Amino acid sequence: MKLTKTEEEMLSGREGRATKKGMEILVALGEIYGADRLVRVSSVQVSGVSYKNLGDAGIEFLRELAEDGKARVKSTLNPAGMDLVNWRSQGIGEDFARKQLEVIDAYGKLGLEISCTCTPYLAGNEPRFAEHIAWSESSAVVYANSVLGARTNREGGPSALAASLTGRTPLCGYHLDEKRLPTLAVNVGAKLESPEDFSAMGYFVGRLVKNGVPCFRGVKHASLEELKTLSAALASSGGVAMFHIEGVTPEAKGAIRGTEAASFTGRDLRETTAMLNDSGDPDFISVGCPHCSLEELAKIAGLLKGRKVKREFWVCCSRVVKHQSDERGYSRQIEASGAKFACDTCMVVAPIESMGYRVVATNSAKACHYMRNNGLQVRFWPLSKCVLEATNAR
Ligand code: F3S
Repeated sequence: MKLTKTEEEMLSGREGRATKKGMEILVALGEIYGADRLVRVSSVQVSGVSYKNLGDAGIEFLRELAEDGKARVKSTLNPAGMDLVNWRSQGIGEDFARKQLEVIDAYGKLGLEISCTCTPYLAGNEPRFAEHIAWSESSAVVYANSVLGARTNREGGPSALAASLTGRTPLCGYHLDEKRLPTLAVNVGAKLESPEDFSAMGYFVGRLVKNGVPCFRGVKHASLEELKTLSAALASSGGVAMFHIEGVTPEAKGAIRGTEAASFTGRDLRETTAMLNDSGDPDFISVGCPHCSLEELAKIAGLLKGRKVKREFWVCCSRVVKHQSDERGYSRQIEASGAKFACDTCMVVAPIESMGYRVVATNSAKACHYMRNNGLQVRFWPLSKCVLEATNAR
């Protein structure tokens, strides 16, 4: 792989040990994936923030990098394992909290913004069309490639951090035009009436297309909330990094020559929704996977008006969106009901399974997928049902 003089210097260690390590990771990956060179990135989003996933070895790794490493471009963080302010009211243990704060401290020393959200594009890290970026939260990767037209591979935590320390990533995969073309046409026959329907469709198609690029036909309109949950679901059941919707997303092509075709019917929608539902009455309900938009918070506030929550109920969002919600009065209405905001975290990366919960309801196919993997029973309900059931006693 051809490196510039500056990149050679980074690799030599002249710019510090952390930069050298970052460059070594990128060169190794670039060679594996056949990249000719590196490309500069305008922003980085780093996953691997929850202590639940990182463990002590992860803290040690970050501390070492933080001895002389610094982010060279705008770099934001994925959710952590707890709300960094209100973790006690979430029931998080002292030991876990102490370790989690050590992780955050190390990222802070590295110069990353402690944004802790999977929707950086709603919280001040919104790349423009055709910009090269290196993001690692899979739902945000799909959203950035497909909806914003930015260019990123599905980075892992270490490779995204390496991109942050060097400001570069290998020029391969979804950074190149050819990889961004559709590989599977999906004729949508199902009537999509809510974000949850888009979530179920994403879950169904992700399994079908694996790491290909689906192009949906027959979808006339999709809201931000529908696009963000579709992105998350596609990335959880498959290895999807990008999709197109004809007439909606910026790089959708009119003709998909030579690609296979599949369909998503009303029956597929019903069966996928049923498959995402275990039995059991939830002892924990959470919405905001991916993190809630302001519009979702407005809807939740409206649904909770004059009601009291009777089960553990978390509303997950970024601190930036929570602040916007504070200004509009939604937060006051939500908290008056007894619902808890879960900023900086979510139902999947927080250690809820070790806090005694057994059955969880949510409106996200992605969250159902991962919580099931964590040994929990799941219910996949529409947002309004999640909110209203939270106000009913078990
Ligand atoms: Fe975000 Fe957690 Fe879902 S990181 S996409 S809310 S699993």
